[in-house]
Amino acid sequence: MRAHPAGALHGDVTPPPHPLRQPADLGFVDPAIWPIGAERVGGAMQLGGCDVRDLLAKHGSPAYVVVEDDVRTRCRNYKAAFGEDTDIYYAAKAFLSKAVARWILDEGLSLDVATGGELATALAAGFPAERILMHGNNKSSEEMTAAVAAGVSRVVIDSEHEIARLAHIAEAAGVVQKVLVRVTVGVEAHTHEFIATAHEDQKFGFSLSSGAAMEAVRRVIASPSLELVGLHSHIGSQIFDTAGFEVAAHRVVGLLAAIRDAIGVTLPELDLGGGLGIAYTDEDDPADVAEVAKQLRAIVERECAAADLPVPRLAVEPGRAIVGPAGVTLYEVGTVKDVDHIRTYVSVDGGMSDNIRTALYDSAYTCVLASRESDAEPMLARVVGKHCEAGDIVVRDVWLPADLAPGDVLAVAATGAYCRSMASNYNAVPRPPVIAVKGGTSTVLLRRESVDDLLALDLG
Ligand code: LLP
Repeated sequence: MRAHPAGALHGDVTPPPHPLRQPADLGFVDPAIWPIGAERVGGAMQLGGCDVRDLLAKHGSPAYVVVEDDVRTRCRNYKAAFGEDTDIYYAAKAFLSKAVARWILDEGLSLDVATGGELATALAAGFPAERILMHGNNKSSEEMTAAVAAGVSRVVIDSEHEIARLAHIAEAAGVVQKVLVRVTVGVEAHTHEFIATAHEDQKFGFSLSSGAAMEAVRRVIASPSLELVGLHSHIGSQIFDTAGFEVAAHRVVGLLAAIRDAIGVTLPELDLGGGLGIAYTDEDDPADVAEVAKQLRAIVERECAAADLPVPRLAVEPGRAIVGPAGVTLYEVGTVKDVDHIRTYVSVDGGMSDNIRTALYDSAYTCVLASRESDAEPMLARVVGKHCEAGDIVVRDVWLPADLAPGDVLAVAATGAYCRSMASNYNAVPRPPVIAVKGGTSTVLLRRESVDDLLALDLG
């Protein structure tokens, strides 16, 4: 295998646009990117005290690994940063299993679900419904009926149709359902277009500027089976820059004041959604949770003081920032192909079916050779999957040791959020298991799918 130092290209081939900085130490397990406690012991990576080679020998490859202590620590950091007077709803869409729901509960967080499936998972884990909030821009009547019957604490209303539907469902159940109204505040969050959610031209919430949000508030207040307790705003995801939150808080507190002035109602709650970014590579510099918490609270306090409003009870909904950095995907290398003068393609035994984020959002990831150490020279590689399309890329550009060979294990960092939860069965590939690690012990949270599982759905 020949190494390609950056720029060592000639002939008619256009050099790949990169130049990715070459790391000083190819095997470095950067604590800013990898889960708590990730380290090399005798050359191989350990996660939660488990050697990655043992994990794959026991559970097969590929596998998602989640470091329990990392998830719990991030929950505690959120609690400590926001304090007891903020409700922290973990956003289940990032990743949910029954065990994860119980970790979240143990750590004193609440839960945000966006579908009947997420709700059912939470309830199956014994998560108390009074600590669950339900979202969704098109919740079905069945989903809302299940949520009301379970007794979820809050439903976030997202459309006009939903006001009437939910009012009817609550009335039929003989309850008064607490709700929040989701407001589109018109903020352009600095993130990928598909995960920005508060600019005007998209499907979520009620527009603040058009007056739709105020109108929705009036209608909810006029519905006897609904109790409006506050407003909700979520500006997007993987956000580093707190300026967007500041504008959102300013506008949404402005609406609280307008509601008081126009309708004479002071709403007691304000949910500012999720969205805090994490480090996928060493190019990312996420904001510190404690700092963000301090800023958010200060902004809300300042805006409320200016509007002569009492400070509402705050809620936030972190997903990625709780589970993203705790997850690592382990893959076995199958082929290494040196496409002359362009780059080296390293094919692994998974791909876009277990991590669609690179193809969908052009997300950057990093990975290391995890099953051994190597002092071979660096080669610029592209880690690709086994699916039938050229866009099946796991890690677009990464330096790996030039002696990488079939059978080596690659560990991809920061795959705890939106990888398993967005996984598919493309090419009839069964989805990998999720393995929790802690104190040298591994536990299967979600088992590997089998081809029989897939065939069981096929009724011929
Ligand atoms: N609250 C609401 C209303 C949301 O829509 C979301 C995410 C969250 C909270 C949690 O956001 P987080 O803290 O995880 O950024 N699949 C995309 C992310 C989509 C986020 C959807 N909503 C990705 O892989 O980047």
